Amino acid sequence: MAKKKRYQVSPVLVGLMGSGKSSVGRRLAKRLEIPLIDLDEYIVEKAGKTIPQIFDEQGEEAFRDMESEALREVLGKPAVIATGGGAIMREENRALLKEHPPVIWLKASPEFLASRIDGDSNRPLIAEGETVKKLQALAEVRYPFYESCADYIVPRGEMKKRKVLESILRFLKRWVRKDH
Ligand code: S3P
Repeated sequence: MAKKKRYQVSPVLVGLMGSGKSSVGRRLAKRLEIPLIDLDEYIVEKAGKTIPQIFDEQGEEAFRDMESEALREVLGKPAVIATGGGAIMREENRALLKEHPPVIWLKASPEFLASRIDGDSNRPLIAEGETVKKLQALAEVRYPFYESCADYIVPRGEMKKRKVLESILRFLKRWVRKDH
C-alpha cells in the first residue's frame, strides 16, 4: 500500500538572505516527504551560470526576469519552495505568491543575518562589505512586502532551526485543518 503523505501542502519560504530559507526548507521537505525546490538553484541550473555571473554579465534586471519566470514555473508544484530574498520585489511575483499559499516569512534582523552571511561571495547584493548597512536598507524596503505576502511569520532570529521547523509544522497542521 502506498505510504500516506503527511500533509497535502506546498509551503513557500520567503525572507532576507541568510534567514535559512534553503536549510529550513530542506528539513521541512524531509519532514513533509516532498521535494525541496530552491529557486536560486533552479535559476542557476537553467542559466548554466552562477548568480554572481548572471549579475555581472547580464545585470540584476535579467536575474529578476529569470526569477519571475522560475517562480511561475515552480509555484503550485507539490514541493517546499525556498525563494531568493528578492523574489517579493516585483508586484507580479507578490500576486503569484498570494495565489499559492501558504507563504511563510522567516523574519530576522539585519544584524542577525549579517553575522551569518558576511563576506559571502555568492551574494552580489552584499559583496564588498558594509553588510549590516546593506541588509538594513533591504529590510526597510522589503519587510512590508514579506509581510503582505505572508500567511505565517516565524521570528527566525529568536529561534534555533529546530524550533523554527517545529513552529512551521504546527502552523501547517492548523492550515491544513482549515481545509486549504
Ligand atoms: C537576493 C538573494 C539571493 C539571490 C540573489 C539576490 C536578494 O538569494 O536570489 O543573490 O535580492 O536578496 P538568498 O536569499 O537565498 O540568498
